[in-house]
Amino acid sequence: MAGPQVLRNTAELAAWRDAAAGPVRFVPTMGNLHDGHVALIDAAREAGGRVLVSIFVNPTQFGPDEDFDRYPRTVDEDLARLAGRCDAVWLPAIDDLYPLGPDAGFSVHVSESLGGILCGAHRPGHFDGVANVVLRLFHRVRPDAAVFGEKDFQQLTILRRMVEDFGLGIEMIGRPTVREADGLAMSSRNRYLTERERAVAPGLHATLLELARRARTLPEDAPAGTFSALAQSGKERLDAMGFDTEYVEFRDARSLGPPAGHPLRLLAAARLGGARLIDNVAISPQARR
Ligand code: PAJ
Repeated sequence: MAGPQVLRNTAELAAWRDAAAGPVRFVPTMGNLHDGHVALIDAAREAGGRVLVSIFVNPTQFGPDEDFDRYPRTVDEDLARLAGRCDAVWLPAIDDLYPLGPDAGFSVHVSESLGGILCGAHRPGHFDGVANVVLRLFHRVRPDAAVFGEKDFQQLTILRRMVEDFGLGIEMIGRPTVREADGLAMSSRNRYLTERERAVAPGLHATLLELARRARTLPEDAPAGTFSALAQSGKERLDAMGFDTEYVEFRDARSLGPPAGHPLRLLAAARLGGARLIDNVAISPQARR
């Protein structure tokens, strides 16, 4: 099957963009593509128009002690995997996105109430890095729609907010988390797990499902403290399994603020050996009745 057109710099991207007839649907990634990424790309294709995937491991969203250097870079395999699935793949160099370097020029900042909670509380500056790279990608690509995974639920929420706040006029499409057969959310970081840790890892999703099941049995007007007690019991359960749990929290699914009626989302992050795993599940009003 024919491979996608590979765009290696901003000039090649601009030429492709200008020649693109009809809507452009965009799937930004950091590469090392797995079935979760592929599901987003397939969703973009089903929506019609032309599909562009970007692969760029963005340094500004990694903390100084994080895995930027060892993050898996597998461009050749990624391009082979994309054959027949998208029209073009953009592989920007750092200068294409940060012409003056990552620390110079302009940047955007996500409010603490959205970017400083949940994962943001444990990864200072992470969501500023995500917002900055996605804004730069969006302005260069000028997509009609962009597709993101619910696996990174806080990221999706923040980027939806960014598109609203800056009036970018891009349709934001969220897609459900793709999982391994045992429930573990697919992630490029799962490869950091040893065999023993890999056997423990599905416990994260199983625990969230169990907490969600119990949350659905709570009365409509249950006080917020009931949710925090339930979340705390989940954290203790994960720690007992061998996770180093960063947080387990029920949040309002739209604002990510404290639970204030439904719909809710249950979100968690936990370290297991050298991997940091995240997951989340919906608690819909329908399911709760
Ligand atoms: P990356 O981790 O490569 O993920 C790219 C996209 O794939 C994101 O929208 C993410 O939510 C989605 N994704 C990852 N695993 C998934 C799974 N198991 N099921 C469904 N979707 C999944 O997220 C990033 O890159 C970066 O932060 C980026 C947005 C590209 C900015 O640098």
